[in-house]
Amino acid sequence: MVVRLDQPGAMINRNIYGHFAEHLGRLIYDGLWVGEGSTIPNTRGLRNDVVAALRELRVPVLRWPGGCFADEYHWRDGIGPRDKRPRRPNASWGGVDPNAFGTHEFMELCELLGADAYINGNVGSGTPQEMMEWIEYLTSDADSDLANLRRQNGRNKPWRVPYFAVGNETWGCGGNMRPEYYADVYRQYATFIKNHSGNRIQKLASGSHDSNYHWTEVLMSQAAKQMDGLSLHYYTLPTGDWGKKGSATRFGEEEWHSTLVRTLRMEEFIQKHAAIMDKYDPQKRVALMVDEWGTWYDKEAGRDLGALYQQNTLRDAVVTGINLNIFHKYAERVRMANIAQMVNVLQAVVLTDKEKMVLTPTYHVFRMYRVHQGATMVPIDLVAPDYKLGQASVPSLSVSASRDGAGRLHLSVVNLDPTRPAEVSTTFSGGVIRTVSGEVLTASAMNAMNTFEQPNSVRPASFTNYKLEGARIIVTVPAKAVVVLELS
Ligand code: AHR
Repeated sequence: MVVRLDQPGAMINRNIYGHFAEHLGRLIYDGLWVGEGSTIPNTRGLRNDVVAALRELRVPVLRWPGGCFADEYHWRDGIGPRDKRPRRPNASWGGVDPNAFGTHEFMELCELLGADAYINGNVGSGTPQEMMEWIEYLTSDADSDLANLRRQNGRNKPWRVPYFAVGNETWGCGGNMRPEYYADVYRQYATFIKNHSGNRIQKLASGSHDSNYHWTEVLMSQAAKQMDGLSLHYYTLPTGDWGKKGSATRFGEEEWHSTLVRTLRMEEFIQKHAAIMDKYDPQKRVALMVDEWGTWYDKEAGRDLGALYQQNTLRDAVVTGINLNIFHKYAERVRMANIAQMVNVLQAVVLTDKEKMVLTPTYHVFRMYRVHQGATMVPIDLVAPDYKLGQASVPSLSVSASRDGAGRLHLSVVNLDPTRPAEVSTTFSGGVIRTVSGEVLTASAMNAMNTFEQPNSVRPASFTNYKLEGARIIVTVPAKAVVVLELS
């Protein structure tokens, strides 16, 4: 491996470390919000344990309220006295939403986390007027009825809302639109996203998924001028089959391997969508925002812990490292990514069960990788053997490096091979390395996980398996592991 310190790349936007919180399963209710009267310690209804854990990750941006739910959400349901708010069926994910968690609670959560707000507006069942008024309610400091209503509801100062999206998956649950139709709808709605009182909103369009390149082509050719960002959704399914996705916890090497093959497809999708964007926006003004990504498994038998609840293993940690390394590589165009989802849903960083909380292997990778936030990407030349299984093969290593504002170099190495450690000989062009420290996340089993009974089975340990040999470092990365090193 040659780390090209003499060829610094783009800045890794912190928002690549973004999160997503939808009204789905037990994410909002139980996972984040327990209410002021709860015996679970909370700050104005938001659970203290979860907020404290998330603060450690330095969450830069949080997307809400969906997902599919966004296109059925009417913001006025979630303001004013909580006991007067309507209870509405959650048509996308089941159950009834009490609307106890609404605009004020979300913005308070963002403030507690120190995260920017990314609000996803309702196109599917909403109107431009409803969207326009929500933005005024949130961000206006004027003496207008809506700003005064916000004051009456307890918030005097307007909030800062830097990101606002026009619908979600408008090719599917957001309205089953054709791209040509949505491009016009987007232009119409985006016109009514106004900046109030110094707030500057970046307008985001609902983008494509997987290899649907036609969607990106049409949106970029018809509406690029009106947008600051275009989204992309891609989920990793071990089997690739939505009817039988694969288990979160019971899998052998075949599904370990196929999951990694499918994870690596993220690079191909980003490359091809970005190439289309380059045609219409060579200056890269419009960001590609991978605002839904992560693993999606079959529901496990046993106690029902909510819609799309899934456990998380060492495999998810490896998937996380690979995806973050890919986002770094395309940092010039990929300027936001939001893992789906934050708590208790899909590839969550935190799981809860009543008063208990557990940090997943995915959480630990986000914590280890936070050093890359806002740092300058440093390219790497790598020659590594493939990790083969049957006819399929993947590179055995996924790597990434960045240099932070203080000049420290951070190097992430993921070993995809579940049985063979990797001895990585590393040199540095344009710099000399004298000190090394780091952490490793690994376990003896591919499906090692943290449970409410055993919450610390998978956790980072200090990493010492390296040798400094003149201008070279030899790093021995264990099988199925994520290593993050700090070098100076
Ligand atoms: O993250 C779960 C769902 O996946 C979201 O609501 C939707 O946008 C996507 O299909």
